[in-house]
Amino acid sequence: MIQAGSGGVGTFAIQLAKAMGIYVATTTSEAGAKLVKSLGADQIINYRTEQFDKVLQNYDGVFDTIGGETLEKAFKTVKQGGQIVSVSGLPNARFGEEYGSGFIKTNLFRFITRKLTKLEMKCNVKYSFLFMKPSGRQLGIISELIESGKIKPVIDLIFPFVEAQKAMEYSESGRAKGKIILKIK
Ligand SMILES: NC(=O)c1ccc[n+]([C@@H]2O[C@H](COP(=O)([O-])OP(=O)(O)OC[C@H]3O[C@@H](n4cnc5c(N)ncnc54)[C@H](OP(=O)(O)O)[C@@H]3O)[C@@H](O)[C@H]2O)c1
Repeated sequence: MIQAGSGGVGTFAIQLAKAMGIYVATTTSEAGAKLVKSLGADQIINYRTEQFDKVLQNYDGVFDTIGGETLEKAFKTVKQGGQIVSVSGLPNARFGEEYGSGFIKTNLFRFITRKLTKLEMKCNVKYSFLFMKPSGRQLGIISELIESGKIKPVIDLIFPFVEAQKAMEYSESGRAKGKIILKIK
């Protein structure tokens, strides 16, 4: 299950999951439904009219791009032994230890994610925070998928570099359908 399938991250996540042969459910509004369907989403939930946690149950995993209460509700969608990976939630102590954040930060992460840790134990679901790091190996795999046409980058708007501020404001609106591009030349 992929949250916000019509966003910059979601449009790639859906296509990557489909390239791996995974069944994908995703959330978007009516405005993004056609786009996520064209990317291969199998089930589409309109987050403005439906509550995903009431509709989707027993999923192997959730890829969360929203955080907050939406992330907490995701525990109802995943089956026991499943996983939630979030790029928008809070980093937990496990992340701090793996990322080498040091004693103080790791314990701070433990404190701020105590509610998520309780949900992990209650639902028997693993929660991980993901912070992107550049990986040549992974970029190589993604390049091959793009070159073979299995993944098509979805570009919403292209801004000239001098309009970087406008691009940031559009990004912050949370309404993008795919990626926002800044053109240097
Ligand atoms: N941890 C990391 O390393 C990392 C890396 C990259 C991004 N991020 C984070 O990942 C998040 C997503 O980034 P993004 O670039 O994909 O965002 P984005 O492109 O701004 O996402 C916008 C899309 O999300 C949809 N949307 C908004 N609220 C939604 C909701 N409640 N449920 C379902 N869909 C919703 C919108 O659809 P409608 O307009 O139709 O409502 C829109 O199509 C951001 O918080 C970003 O900071 C983290």
